[in-house]
Amino acid sequence: MTAMHVVPRRVQVRMPAKINISLKVGPARADGFHELATVFHAVSLYDIITVSERPVGSGISLSCGTKGVPEDASNLAWRAAERFAELTSHKPDVHITIAKGIPTAGGMAGGSADCAGTLLALNELWQSGFTREQLVELGAEFGSDVPFCVAGGTALGTGRGEMLSPVLGRGEYHWVIATAGSELSTPTVFRQLDALRPHAAEPQVSETIMSALRTGDSRLLGRALENDLQAPALALKPTLKRTLDAGMEAGALGALVSGSGPTCVFLVRDNEHAIDVQVALMASGVAADVVRAHGPVRPMFL
Ligand code: C5P
Repeated sequence: MTAMHVVPRRVQVRMPAKINISLKVGPARADGFHELATVFHAVSLYDIITVSERPVGSGISLSCGTKGVPEDASNLAWRAAERFAELTSHKPDVHITIAKGIPTAGGMAGGSADCAGTLLALNELWQSGFTREQLVELGAEFGSDVPFCVAGGTALGTGRGEMLSPVLGRGEYHWVIATAGSELSTPTVFRQLDALRPHAAEPQVSETIMSALRTGDSRLLGRALENDLQAPALALKPTLKRTLDAGMEAGALGALVSGSGPTCVFLVRDNEHAIDVQVALMASGVAADVVRAHGPVRPMFL
């Protein structure tokens, strides 16, 4: 008699990258984090997370195959699986596959997206019944960007970035994204900011940003893009200034270092305009890679 083969169940989820349309940083807190007021925006560069059942007792394994992404318990996705199993009284016998489309260590929350994707996928695989809001809250245990990665769309983040409220907005925005081919360490960029600016005010997103988002006015939004981490990122990596300038010279509506960098993002009018700016940035040779994306988008089960 032939043995019955049971196909292991699996769940796949597509997780977007994030950019910060506004990132205002307040003083350092006692816990070392900084008080933030930020507008997160999810864009159409994706990692695909697949979570598959493994034989009982085999534990967690993880594969990615992209340089710089750990395939052990130091990966946030692995830690998310451990924790979610503990919370739901499951044995964490799963394999996590991460297919990277989000630039690594570029200030676009790729690691946080993989962590958020693992929570979403396990909730589905194990039919655990957590609401999206509960998973957003759980995400804060793993990092300041993880709650937003669970939610997607466009949202205001306060606290250390983990407290989210929706941003009422309209329209779709087109972006050109230039990666630098190197890394900037987030803690180092925050420390550099503290050194450049010892007395910080309470952070607040500019009213212009909120009103541009409400009305879907991309020209106004382009002029208002703001990031307090841009000055320290430029101080640590002065060549980024050439990237930002090259995009503006090519006609972008606005240019900004993404999060703590070194990825730079450019707001453009539409997809045609995105192609023009992309070609100009590639020709200028200032960036490692230049891609187009649109937002807002959300996590999606495949
Ligand atoms: O929360 P996350 O792990 O993404 O933070 C990475 C690092 O960035 C922190 O260890 C801290 O140095 C810095 N950070 C901060 N204030 C925040 C978020 C991050 O200082 N609100």
